[in-house]
Amino acid sequence: MKIGIVGAGNIGSVLARHFGSAGHVVVIANSRGPETLVGLARETGATAVSIAEVADKVDCLVLTIPMKSVPLLPRNLLARLPAGTPVIDTGNYYPLRDGRIEEIDRGRIESEWTGQILRHSVIKAFNNITAYSLANKSLPKGAANRVALPVAGDDQYARQVVLGLLDQIGFDPYDAGTLAESWRYQPGTPAYCPDPTLTQLPGLLQRADRTKAPGNRDQAAKMMAKVPDFPPSELVRLARLSAGLDIFNPRAWLAVFRLGIAMLGGVRR
Ligand SMILES: NC(=O)c1ccc[n+]([C@@H]2O[C@H](COP(=O)([O-])OP(=O)(O)OC[C@H]3O[C@@H](n4cnc5c(N)ncnc54)[C@H](OP(=O)(O)O)[C@@H]3O)[C@@H](O)[C@H]2O)c1
Repeated sequence: MKIGIVGAGNIGSVLARHFGSAGHVVVIANSRGPETLVGLARETGATAVSIAEVADKVDCLVLTIPMKSVPLLPRNLLARLPAGTPVIDTGNYYPLRDGRIEEIDRGRIESEWTGQILRHSVIKAFNNITAYSLANKSLPKGAANRVALPVAGDDQYARQVVLGLLDQIGFDPYDAGTLAESWRYQPGTPAYCPDPTLTQLPGLLQRADRTKAPGNRDQAAKMMAKVPDFPPSELVRLARLSAGLDIFNPRAWLAVFRLGIAMLGGVRR
């Protein structure tokens, strides 16, 4: 497959590496031009292109930029993309970072908002795993503790393509239904970033509370803003604990203790 990636940051760069290793042809773009992506291209085998070229004749496109940047994308970015082509949205809405997006604050599902701006149906995937886990927790099919990730979207074909891609790059795919269901793994829900197995994931999605998620999200974002260098592996432990996983794991409680120390201003490593 030829896969285009818009965004070459934490998530875009890891996906470029994974898709390249799985044998796909990858083109990648950022906002500043291909000349700023020479190192990443060399390291991942992806071809750096301009934003005008990134959707050219691709079989799948990944959008992995902050949500505040979605309205700034070129209006004709997807104009020549056939309607059923999978467009993956990894985005998460964080008002602290993105500013207020009123429609989403009023309850619009994040990826529906993005799809409307792009004028193309999108598939929500890869938004509920940290870049750290995405880079480091890929495992062969059948391995114990393989991380499961949900995929939601309205186009059945596009959803199947993305489910297949997930499996190829080392994660258990889980069909989470239509895009209307994707709020179940937006920030502030139990399925947000705890690296669950395929056995654990459905229960976490079921337990999501739509009214409480934005408050949980904002509280977590405020806390993390105070400790920006807190290790991502520890963040995952905290996410697992708050999802009700690992409650008997002493390392999870150690992460809580470390967060407390970090919040007091004395991060120790
Ligand atoms: N970090 C994580 O662990 C994580 C996990 C899951 C989901 N997500 C979500 O995935 C999205 C990307 O996150 P990230 O952490 O990878 O972001 P990031 O490291 O900040 O990278 C953002 C990338 O988007 C590019 N970009 C921004 N505006 C653009 C535009 N108008 N046109 C083209 N490219 C543009 C940036 O290019 P320039 O540098 O040239 O501006 C940069 O390459 C966010 O919505 C985030 O919430 C993040």
